[in-house]
Amino acid sequence: MALESLPESQGALRAPGKVLMSLRVNGIAYDVAVEPRHMLVELLRDDLGLTGTKVGCNMGDCGACTVLLDGLPVFSCLVPALEVDGRDVTTIEGLAENGHLHPLQEAFVEVGAIQCGFCTPGMVLSSLALLRETPDPTDEDIRRALSGNLCRCTGYQKIFEAIREASKRASV
Ligand code: FES
Ligand code: FES
Repeated sequence: MALESLPESQGALRAPGKVLMSLRVNGIAYDVAVEPRHMLVELLRDDLGLTGTKVGCNMGDCGACTVLLDGLPVFSCLVPALEVDGRDVTTIEGLAENGHLHPLQEAFVEVGAIQCGFCTPGMVLSSLALLRETPDPTDEDIRRALSGNLCRCTGYQKIFEAIREASKRASV
């Protein structure tokens, strides 16, 4: 369908040279026109205003930009935005409910697994994917799940503690 023929009711952002796509983010459906060269992290932060996803290296080395794509962690700085057409994304903004932090976020705060917090959204989303797959993870499971997420502040011990603590909470 040509961009010009789209009805206003679809709520598409229109601009020359952009490509229309649809996706769900945190359970909300969006129609959005994106720059064909944009990556998912730019779509989330620049087009949708979801700045909880952080940008560190922008090259797949740090994990700060981790989000869940169809439930699995990906580096959103490496995923072309157009590849997400029709798919489901979870960002850190999608975890809190009714003003309450997700139990995993609570555990990070309670055990002090956060200092600057820059790595935290990616750490939490990688951890969430792990706990959904492996509710009672071993240290090796945790190490493997977080192998793509770098933290320059906490030394990882507190992050491990937070994940172990969260694994004891039924609602994770
Ligand atoms: S910003 Fe994507 S991996 Fe570093
Ligand atoms: S808390 Fe600062 S990079 Fe992890």
